[in-house]
Amino acid sequence: MMDLRKDFPIFQNSMNGKRFTYLDTGASAQKPQKVIDSMNQAIVNNYSNIHRGLYNFSQLITEQYEAARSKIADFFAVNEKEIIFTRNATESINLVAQSWVRNNLSQGDEIIITQMEHHANIVPWQILREQIGIVLKIIPVLDNGELDLDSYKNLLSDKTKLVSIVHISNSIGIVNDVRNISKIAKKFNPEIKVIIDGSQAVVHNVINISDMGCDFYVFSGHKLYGPTGIGILWGKYSLLENMPPYQGGGDMIETVTFEKTTFQKPPARFEAGTSAIIEAIGLGAAIDYLKSIGMSNISAHEKELYNYAMDSLSNIDGLKFYGTSENKAAIISFCADWGHISDIAMILDQCGVAVRTGHHCCMPLMEKFGIEGTVRASFGCYNNKEDVDIFIKSLEKAKDMLS
Ligand SMILES: Cc1ncc(COP(=O)(O)O)c(C=O)c1O
Repeated sequence: MMDLRKDFPIFQNSMNGKRFTYLDTGASAQKPQKVIDSMNQAIVNNYSNIHRGLYNFSQLITEQYEAARSKIADFFAVNEKEIIFTRNATESINLVAQSWVRNNLSQGDEIIITQMEHHANIVPWQILREQIGIVLKIIPVLDNGELDLDSYKNLLSDKTKLVSIVHISNSIGIVNDVRNISKIAKKFNPEIKVIIDGSQAVVHNVINISDMGCDFYVFSGHKLYGPTGIGILWGKYSLLENMPPYQGGGDMIETVTFEKTTFQKPPARFEAGTSAIIEAIGLGAAIDYLKSIGMSNISAHEKELYNYAMDSLSNIDGLKFYGTSENKAAIISFCADWGHISDIAMILDQCGVAVRTGHHCCMPLMEKFGIEGTVRASFGCYNNKEDVDIFIKSLEKAKDMLS
C-alpha cells in the first residue's frame, strides 16, 4: 500500500503526546515538503512583485507565477487563459455571483442549488436574492444522501438561468453525477449555465474539467495539498471575456484616466491588486507533487482505506452513518447512540486523532437529517492502515468511556 506520510513534515510531530493521526483532509490538507520548499525558494531566491518590474527577479517570479497557472490548466485539461487565481472556492463563487450572475439575471430568474451544498454555495445566492430578487430553488437529498434527480427535473423551468452544484459533498462524501446534472440542464435549455463546486472532488479524483459539461468550476488550493490564500475559478472564455470585473484596482486595468478605465482581458481582469504570488507558486508545486504520485493511484489508495475503515467500523455498535449510497469518496460521516459528537471528538483528540465534528458548513443538510452534526473522518493521500487502526481503537475507547 502506498505510504506518503514521510513526504509531509507535519507527521514528524506528535499531537497530545501521541502519533498524529490526521483524518480532517476534507477541511484542509497537510502540505508536502516539496510545496513548502517551492514557496521558501521563491521567497529566498528571487522574491519581488509580478508583472510590472523590468528587472530580472520580477521577470523570474512572473514566469513562476504564470507557470503555476499553466500547470493547473494542464492538470485539469483546460486553457490557461480560463484559469483565474482567487483566494479560495468561496471567493470564486462570489466572483461568478457578483459578475456573471448579477449582470445576466434579473428579478424572478431562478437559480437551482442542492440541499447538500456547503454554505459557500448557498449564501452568495442569498445575497443576490436580496440585491436583485432572484429565486433560489433547492434539489432535495434522499435518505441515502443522493440527490433526488426526479425533483431536479421538475424544478427546471423557463426561468432557470443557473444550476450550481457540489461535485462531492464535504459533509457526507456523496459523489454527484455532475456530468449528468449538467446534461439535463443543457438539454432542457442550452442557455442554462452550470457551476460545479469541485472543492472536494479535485482532491480525490482525476478531474477533466472540460469533460464536465459545465461553464464554471471552482476549488481551493489548501484542500489540494497547496497553501491557503489561493483558489481557482475556471470559466469558459466566451463567458469570462464578457464579464465585468469583480474588484477594481491595479493589475486588472489597461488604461486609467479619471474619466474612464479600460480593463485587461481575462484572467488578469479578475486578479485585481497584488496576487497571492507565493501561494500560486506553492499550488503549482502541489500539482507537480500530485502528478508525480498519480491521481488515479491516490484515488485507488483512498478507496482501499475507505473500505478497510468501513469494514472495521461495522464492528462498533450504535453508529449511524450518513451518505450511505455507493457513490462515495473517502469521507465517513456518523453519529453514535452512545455519545455526543463533541465528546467523541475530544476523546479522539486525546488519542492523537484529528476528526471534524459539527455541521461541516452544511446546516441545511444536517437539518434534513434531523441532527446537529456528525463526526467526520476524511482521508487524504498520506493516510494509511495504521491511521485507520488507531482511529478504530480510539473510537472503541470513546465508546467505553461514554457508554
Ligand atoms: C464542498 C465545499 N465547498 C466550498 C468550500 C469552501 O472552501 P473555502 O473555505 O476554502 O473557500 C468547502 C470547504 O470546506 C467545501 O468543502
